[in-house]
Amino acid sequence: MKLFDVYPLYDVCPVKAKDVHVYDEAGTEYLDLYGGHAVISIGHSHPHYVNRLQEQLQKIAFYSNAVENPLQQKLADEIGEQSCLHEYQLFLCSSGAEANENALKLASFHTGKKRVVAFKNAFHGRTSAAVAATDNQNINAPLNQQQKVTFIPFNDAEALEKELEKGDVCAVIFEPIQGVGGLDMPEDDFVLKMEKLCYQYDTALIADEVQSGFSRSGTFFAFQNNHIKPHVITMAKGMGNGFPIGGILVHPDVQPKYGMLGTTFGGNHLACTASLAVLEILKKEELQKHAKKMEAYFRSKAKKIKEATIKGRGLMLGLEFDFEVGPLRKRLIYEKHIFTGGSSNKNVLRILPPLTVQEQHFDKFFNALEDLL
Ligand SMILES: Cc1ncc(COP(=O)(O)O)c(C=O)c1O
Repeated sequence: MKLFDVYPLYDVCPVKAKDVHVYDEAGTEYLDLYGGHAVISIGHSHPHYVNRLQEQLQKIAFYSNAVENPLQQKLADEIGEQSCLHEYQLFLCSSGAEANENALKLASFHTGKKRVVAFKNAFHGRTSAAVAATDNQNINAPLNQQQKVTFIPFNDAEALEKELEKGDVCAVIFEPIQGVGGLDMPEDDFVLKMEKLCYQYDTALIADEVQSGFSRSGTFFAFQNNHIKPHVITMAKGMGNGFPIGGILVHPDVQPKYGMLGTTFGGNHLACTASLAVLEILKKEELQKHAKKMEAYFRSKAKKIKEATIKGRGLMLGLEFDFEVGPLRKRLIYEKHIFTGGSSNKNVLRILPPLTVQEQHFDKFFNALEDLL
């Protein structure tokens, strides 16, 4: 049977991984500054993570959401503690798109409306409403185009108010730091205004923290830099360090009802254990603080690259050049054995390493980059 060929692949086959490195069959070591697309938070195959999953697997891996699973409450308590968002409610699912799909659905249930406002260059996933709120017509099928979504630019409060005052918008969805779009961020004043307008016009504000959440940005969630209270916060990638888990945090104003949301796999025993292990290591190894320290180090080194502008925050960083970075990324992989990320802004090289990355790894990257440039 052939694989359904939807991914252009690099000619590399990792078979083993440890902390910030992956290894192919020949034992060649690659420095992972891509984190499998911002997924690896506490480092590949962290011993605590491996032990916790092995122990859980011996006990029970899965049972449906029709019975009690105390691991879900443990996870809610720990996310509450680390994010300081104790009053929010947790619903678990299995991916970033599913988290956004649930968030948009909830916004529609809550407000009784159905149009969505999203932002230019946004990426929210590939399911029905999530992909419709993604600013890329190439990945929207005719089916998805039935959803009513209006795209506006970041920082245009006038355009936002013009849409919200029409009275039919259930949700405004935004990435506090755009991922796939190329690391643009809304201005602080605009974020505050957006929150105010959403409350004023009875519209739910959704913060998509699928990529920026779980300490990658240097705060637990990136929006916490702005001290706002979104109605729904969505999360996934770094949450499970590679184990498929996603979730939404729901403001107490939004009340649950039986049947409103549901899933077979979401919140299973193994997934909860993976995420609890991630949170335990984030706390023990103080990786949020470390992310900020490593951002400062990255910036100090990047300043010396005259050809590049630095973008992003925490360990969600990018270098914007005045040329397309595709060929450079290829040379970094094949000649220097370093994984980096691209973006829909073809001039941006993205850096999304495990949060355990150290100065010497950035030294290696900048030496390689200087050499290739
Ligand atoms: C901000 C953001 N939201 C949603 C998604 C979709 O997540 P998933 O691929 O887990 O469905 C992504 C994936 O890159 C993302 O970056």
